[in-house]
Amino acid sequence: MIDKIESLKKEIEKAVIEDENSLEQFRLKYLSRNGEIQNMFGLMGKVPKSERASVGKAMNEVKNLAKNKYETSKQKLSESVEATFSAKNDITLPVSPSYTGSLHPLTRTLNQIKQIFLRLGFSIADGPEIEDDFHNFTALNFPEDHPARDMQDTFFIRKSDHDEEQDLVLRTHTSPVQIRLLKEQDPPLRAIMPGRVYRNEAVTAKSYFQFNQVEGLYVDKRVTLGDLIETLVMFAKLMYGSDVKYRVRPSFFPFTEPSMEMDIWWGSEKEGKWLEILGAGMVDPNVFDAVGVDSEDFTGFAFGMGVDRICMLRYGINDIRTLYENDIRFLQQFK
Ligand code: PHE
Repeated sequence: MIDKIESLKKEIEKAVIEDENSLEQFRLKYLSRNGEIQNMFGLMGKVPKSERASVGKAMNEVKNLAKNKYETSKQKLSESVEATFSAKNDITLPVSPSYTGSLHPLTRTLNQIKQIFLRLGFSIADGPEIEDDFHNFTALNFPEDHPARDMQDTFFIRKSDHDEEQDLVLRTHTSPVQIRLLKEQDPPLRAIMPGRVYRNEAVTAKSYFQFNQVEGLYVDKRVTLGDLIETLVMFAKLMYGSDVKYRVRPSFFPFTEPSMEMDIWWGSEKEGKWLEILGAGMVDPNVFDAVGVDSEDFTGFAFGMGVDRICMLRYGINDIRTLYENDIRFLQQFK
């Protein structure tokens, strides 16, 4: 009997308790009701009387040994759990990086343009990207079969081969929104119309088959060329800084008379060049006639600027294609 107790004692000493699971195994094996120690106490009856005292003492020792080992292991385990837990909450540890998105450079540029014109009292309007011939050309004083239509290489959408009257186009500029606005609202009106436009052009670093414009229209009694130029100069200064170098030169558009273009000087004093940023002019009376506004009573100015060009200047982007490819490595630079 003493031998049995002795070997049980060695077994308990050697037992490895390393986690919650082995702790519980240990308790079941030695300390539970059906555990080995309790079993041993059950054999006490068979021990000769003379030996009972010493056997009982040895058995109590083993029992205490097991109990102690159980309690201290349990204590250690809970301490180490606490340790890991508090390490997780260590606020001095570096945080894992988080990735956020950013506004597209075109969106940023557009937002800035909108801000400027909202400040100058313009509202914002828009219109469809698929247009009919009337809004994109005819109402804007492009004569039928006139070479002016070739100024803008057009994507045509033919609804049906039998129905040639129904030619639709992807709008080549935002000017058709002027027509829609004038048909809907009686002047005075003052609005900008941002949007995407399409041209059937070869794709290069400088040109793309889609881009963005912001159209502007101001119609009221006695709107003058002076008002137009002042508005454009104000825009250039707010967009590029008050020391921006600009020029306005004559040009041609069927829907404005007179017409002009605005350039800004880009680069250093010596090594720079003039870059065109917008077209503009006084609304041609033929346009007012097409939408039923009395051109004796009202005058107006209109302008149209290329958002992509302005954006590329602003951020030093030299290939327009990068604005549409959505390469995350490119976009991440604009955070
Ligand atoms: N719609 C013209 C273009 O695409 C720009 C413009 C708008 C010119 C308004 C004059 C007035 O190029």
